[in-house]
Amino acid sequence: MRVVSTSSLPIDLAAQVRARFPAARVEVPEQWGGLARLDLSDADALVCLLLDRIDASVLARAPRLRVVANCAVGYDNVDMAALTAAGIALTNTPDVLTEATAELAFALMMAAARRLPEGEALVRSGQWEGWRLDQLLGVQLLGKTLGIIGMGRIGQAVARRARGFGMHVIHADAGEDVDGVFARADVVSLHCPLTPATRHLVDARRLGLMKPTAILVNTARGACVDEGPLVEALTAGRIFAAALDVFEREPEIDARLKTCPRLVLAPHIGSATTEARTQMAQLCADGVLAVLSGQRPGNLVNTEVVLRG
Ligand code: GLV
Repeated sequence: MRVVSTSSLPIDLAAQVRARFPAARVEVPEQWGGLARLDLSDADALVCLLLDRIDASVLARAPRLRVVANCAVGYDNVDMAALTAAGIALTNTPDVLTEATAELAFALMMAAARRLPEGEALVRSGQWEGWRLDQLLGVQLLGKTLGIIGMGRIGQAVARRARGFGMHVIHADAGEDVDGVFARADVVSLHCPLTPATRHLVDARRLGLMKPTAILVNTARGACVDEGPLVEALTAGRIFAAALDVFEREPEIDARLKTCPRLVLAPHIGSATTEARTQMAQLCADGVLAVLSGQRPGNLVNTEVVLRG
């Protein structure tokens, strides 16, 4: 039996697998190195990151594979239909990263509303000349309306925080009255998965529906936002600010984003707390061990799969 991970993990995967299957070979690299250099020819289980594109060409190299444990809640990096057709289980890491991601969404919302990156840059530049009545005026969140796109686990966790801040919460899922949320909200925060229906959900037209005082926050997937029109809207002052934790072509960042005014940038760190990342890795190990033990894992994504024996 062979278990392969594309990345180092904050748990001892090898020890956990060998405790159940003493003869198992477990390969965990020092750091993420991608899939290309991995020998998957006799791999029974694969632990991967959202950076790893798992498609039919990868499955063709892995004829014995029984489970792919994606160390993320989102799985748009995986061709789920190909896995299901091949009888391979796909697991993800829901719940354990919900609060961490909601906290980051809130941090970005506040950073954008209060222009924290501009303030920090001013202090560091040595150009700050002292307190001014009109300096770096931002937006107060109390009494404002938060529009959540994707009222799943993370959207609901953001909503709970917003209510604590005295915000009103409205929401829509893709296909519902998304336009109405964009038109009414003072802050729009994206918490939907990336699917054909949510690709470029935030486009020029929807940005045009937003209030000039509104803020956009994206901690979901980069491709939910069409970055070009966002840069144009921010540059023209058609919305107040935006904050992005995710990008269309990670890790490439469109050069226009780096110089765009009123844009807070973070390097896809929604779930980046020690607590969340450790539990995410543990869920991957749990999924691998369940499938290799002939059980259906609790966090199975392709529930219709008929698992390989
Ligand atoms: C991170 O983006 C995740 O989907 O877990």
